[in-house]
Amino acid sequence: MALNYTKKTLNHFLKPKNIGEIKNADAYAEIGNMVCGDQLNFSIRVQKGKIKDVKFLSFGCASNIATASIMTEKVKGMSLEEAKNYDWNKIVADLGGLPQQKVHCSIMAVEGLKKVIDNYEDKKDVKKDSKKELKKVMKKKSTKVSTKKSAKKKK
Ligand code: FES
Repeated sequence: MALNYTKKTLNHFLKPKNIGEIKNADAYAEIGNMVCGDQLNFSIRVQKGKIKDVKFLSFGCASNIATASIMTEKVKGMSLEEAKNYDWNKIVADLGGLPQQKVHCSIMAVEGLKKVIDNYEDKKDVKKDSKKELKKVMKKKSTKVSTKKSAKKKK
């Protein structure tokens, strides 16, 4: 049975945008579907809270490629919050529709995007936490040093 793809879906499948992997990306994520066996890998570059660049690698079907392609095109330049709210309905609408049995491909694309953003935010939080921890340690050390110095002065 032939699937009824829109011209736009076919274009994004045949000439996908943002395919590849960003070197030294700010975050990476991979997502797969156990049922169909398809997979998407995302890499992201963030600048001033906005998506400066996003790329994907697909190990999947035509819809897997087309949905990731149009989604990456649409979310470039969005803030992280806006991108997290870009849902699969928008992908389907932007493609002019998807065959019912291929809607899960768009869901996987947005889940992959959310995952790469989450990974980015987790990394950022870890960096923040380790900076805070380092400041605490440095503060304690400087307090100890200054306490020792003042103890020496008293003698
Ligand atoms: Fe599963 Fe397309 S058939 S992602």
